[in-house]
Amino acid sequence: MKILVCDPMPEDFKKILEDKGYEVCYLLKQSSSTLKEVISEYDAVVVRSSTKITSDIIEAGSKLKVIARAGAGLDNIDVEAANKKGIRVINVPEAVANAVAELTLGLILSLLRSLPNAVESLRMARWEKHTFIGRELAGMTVGVVGMGNIGSLVAKKLLALGANVITYRRNKLLLESDSAKIGARSAKSLEELLKVSEIVTLHVPYTKETHHLLNSKNITLMQKGSYLVNTSRAWVVEGKALIKALSDGTFEGVAIDVHYNEPPQEDWEWQLIRHPKVIATPHIGAQTWEARTRTSILLAEKLAYELQKAKS
Ligand code: 3PG
Repeated sequence: MKILVCDPMPEDFKKILEDKGYEVCYLLKQSSSTLKEVISEYDAVVVRSSTKITSDIIEAGSKLKVIARAGAGLDNIDVEAANKKGIRVINVPEAVANAVAELTLGLILSLLRSLPNAVESLRMARWEKHTFIGRELAGMTVGVVGMGNIGSLVAKKLLALGANVITYRRNKLLLESDSAKIGARSAKSLEELLKVSEIVTLHVPYTKETHHLLNSKNITLMQKGSYLVNTSRAWVVEGKALIKALSDGTFEGVAIDVHYNEPPQEDWEWQLIRHPKVIATPHIGAQTWEARTRTSILLAEKLAYELQKAKS
């Protein structure tokens, strides 16, 4: 059986699958028309977030049995089209959750202490000790939106650092018990969470339902001088509303690891990234050696299992 890898994956991923008898081919950074041409040769395709597996690629995949996402988000894969054709879509959210959660904590602390600006200022040989007066996370109220693999880890880490945590999950039944177990409070609605939080951090998958979950209407409920962290997907937040909230004083700081185009293309995206109150990173949430290793091993095992199942 042949496996096509479209985005960078470590050597051990290839080795595990080759040791099990699979042929693994790397075709990185291909256009969608090239993928459409070659996909019929393969039994499985492996992507991260860069390569889009659209319905026409799925349609052309006459032998395709599995689409494997090396990470959490499935927004670059037409899951509905795959389901219709009986193609299994697998991912490994558990492999990247801690990496994303730790980056989220890093971004929150960086915002509260203006770390990038303080570092930059000293690099410029300025001694602005008294300019950089920040806030302490302990005692602050943090709203965690989404309580899946990543959100629940973020909530636990925040609680360990002394923050008050309020959570929101669309499936409220699960929310109450999950949040109570770890010592967080669950909000009755997203609106309630936005009103009471001094920091809001987003951990929902990007779907039709979460498109512009934070928008020009509900962003106005947030406290003046609050903070927003987005390590989920950019489109969960309405871009125009975000820019407005930065200029009207709603936000004291915003940290984003995810972008409307990756890499960013439009002028307004660069304006957002370069805004003095914004800390932006190039979608590095899952980029740790530990997450890469876990992703390789877990995904290779899951993929081999699915291909084996499809064969029998
Ligand atoms: C994910 O969904 O797994 C993260 O956002 C990381 O995406 P990446 O694997 O493309 O870096």
